[in-house]
Amino acid sequence: MSSPAPAVEVDGVTVRYGDVLALDGVTFDLAPGRVCALLGTNGSGKSTLFKALLGLVRADAGRVLLHGEPPQAARRGGLVGYVPQTEQVDWAFPVRVADVVMMGRYGHMGFTRRPRRADRAAVAAALERTGLTGLADRQIGALSGGQRKRAFVARGIAQGARVFLLDEPFAGVDAPSEATIVEVLRAMSGAGATVLLSTHDLARVPEYCDEAVLLQRRVVARGRPEEVLTPDRLMAAFGVGGGPQSPPVGGAVTAPALLGPADRGGEAA
Ligand SMILES: Nc1ncnc2c1ncn2[C@@H]1O[C@H](COP(=O)(O)OP(=O)(O)OP(=O)(O)O)[C@@H](O)[C@H]1O
Ligand SMILES: [Mg+2]
Repeated sequence: MSSPAPAVEVDGVTVRYGDVLALDGVTFDLAPGRVCALLGTNGSGKSTLFKALLGLVRADAGRVLLHGEPPQAARRGGLVGYVPQTEQVDWAFPVRVADVVMMGRYGHMGFTRRPRRADRAAVAAALERTGLTGLADRQIGALSGGQRKRAFVARGIAQGARVFLLDEPFAGVDAPSEATIVEVLRAMSGAGATVLLSTHDLARVPEYCDEAVLLQRRVVARGRPEEVLTPDRLMAAFGVGGGPQSPPVGGAVTAPALLGPADRGGEAA
């Protein structure tokens, strides 16, 4: 056999919202076990791509497959764990942290959705893994931003997801929460899960990502993080980072300092 079948296949995906062309023929794939950063300015289509991967928006053209299955089937089969962008969740919804994580087990339960011992054990293990054991009974709306993100990661772990889609999991998250999330994701990828995450924190991408996709409605660059985060590319995509005085690659490290506040996503704004 040659290379393994892709875990994520995005093939010519175009999405329009009325007159707005959000994605234009986006094509890339990810092999199982890879951790990939999805990078791009505000409005470049990152959240839309996640929604297309989840089947939450309809593609006007192209298709996506997760382990060979269309999004709806992949979700029904519990293949996909999703951490939504913070702004897109109704935090007033009255539900406990343990309940959010238990939702990941629904696919494993019968139609009665009555948790069994194995479900409770999976939830307890996922809470432990993400450092949330002590907060299991807390309402999700009464958590900090970083704790909420970890609760969604825990849901994906309890679910046994093979593909993790995380839309700005580090926005507004402190260093210890970020470290916990990175550590958990690396462990999941070590066990064969595939991770696609969007972030505006470019400096850390080379540390924990195997590859990166730079999106600007289309795929502008694709490859190892240090190949994607070149000064020229950053200039083209963000309008920063280029020019003869710019440091060579590793120039990646200087990128966040160059990003204005408008380019930083999430709660911190
Ligand atoms: N529901 C919608 N209706 C109309 N236009 C939308 C809708 N959602 C997104 N858009 C537009 O589609 C484009 C892509 O938006 P998207 O949310 O995917 O970007 P993003 O890369 O996630 O940005 P950010 O970094 O700010 O989260 C933007 O121009 C946005 O205004
Ligand atoms: Mg977004």
